[in-house]
Amino acid sequence: MQVPIHDHTVLYRRYKPALDAAVARVLASGQLDWGPEVPAFEDAFARWLGATHAVGTNSGTAALKVALRALGVGPGDEVITVPNSDIGSTAAIHHVGATAVWVDVEPDTGNINPALVATAVTPRTAAILPVDLYGHPADLAALRTIAERHGLAIVEDACLALGAAIDGRPVGQWADITCFSFAPTKHLGAYGSAGAAVTDDGALAQRMQRLVGYGQNRERHYGDNLAAAPLEHLSEGLNERLDELQAAMLRVKLPHLREIIDGYIARAAVYTDSLAGAAVRTPVIRPGAIHTFRNYVVHVEARDHVQRRLADAGIATALNYAPPLHRQPAYRETSAAAESFPVADRLGETLLALPIGPHLDGPICQRVAQALAAAV
Ligand SMILES: Cc1ncc(COP(=O)(O)O)c(C=O)c1O
Repeated sequence: MQVPIHDHTVLYRRYKPALDAAVARVLASGQLDWGPEVPAFEDAFARWLGATHAVGTNSGTAALKVALRALGVGPGDEVITVPNSDIGSTAAIHHVGATAVWVDVEPDTGNINPALVATAVTPRTAAILPVDLYGHPADLAALRTIAERHGLAIVEDACLALGAAIDGRPVGQWADITCFSFAPTKHLGAYGSAGAAVTDDGALAQRMQRLVGYGQNRERHYGDNLAAAPLEHLSEGLNERLDELQAAMLRVKLPHLREIIDGYIARAAVYTDSLAGAAVRTPVIRPGAIHTFRNYVVHVEARDHVQRRLADAGIATALNYAPPLHRQPAYRETSAAAESFPVADRLGETLLALPIGPHLDGPICQRVAQALAAAV
């Protein structure tokens, strides 16, 4: 048995005629920039989430960075986040010139611990950046209470949590700005790098649109008379837009997104059922939460040994996200690295991400679970 961690060809084969047609449409149009695909995708994506505005970006990291900049977060500001995430969550804070303040996480979900957020707030705190780890939403109600008490913004890193919800309210409707990644491994995977920032605030959306496109008003590129439109940079923008080809392919997959996400949830349920009784801690789902399982992460003792045994059995696994950021070379020199995050450390020592995605079916998940139960 060979079980890879991902297989991007499965959904390509499933949607091939429509994906090929979308690529051909964009290439034949000659309109590789500022065409109709990006705005059409943004509208459809916002509607899918029940949000008002979506701004396409060229990655999840770019979405986080643009969100922080649009909120005016910059040098001198602190942003509270977690050390057990993709580096993009923390790097985006530093890329806008602000300081990331890590706090430890909840032992069950691995998400930001609101009680510790409350104690980390200082007069310099500008925002909270929770991460919905593996697809389980952070405790957004508790975080909103803290944010409102201190006048802080919430920029939610939902790069792994498309389709997640708490108490019936979808991720995308909780934060000032919610950021998504469409990296190929995500629920809505592009064929390259892509992302989006979502908000109900029209002024923030307009600022983000300008920021991703050279600081220009987007309308400038959509008039009939572009050559005559004055070149006007309203702010010092970036070049971090979603591109037409990715937008066209994302538009093909978006109508199937619910089915894709339900597939992840169903495979996760098979894993959890099959691992009952094994010496494995399976993922927790808080009451009221919808966990969309972009990653199915278990916790086991002697993790490295277990991972090797699974590899010997042909089963690929991953370590999202270990070692945590405070143990990464990039941050070893910073003062924050000297602080201790015992829960994040403990989770980092025991976590193991099993393969999950459209390339697996129930029986394969059962066999992976059996191999894991035998390996622990
Ligand atoms: C939690 C989290 N935040 C941010 C990112 C960054 O997204 P991207 O790779 O699209 O820049 C990722 C991507 O893996 C992620 O998982």
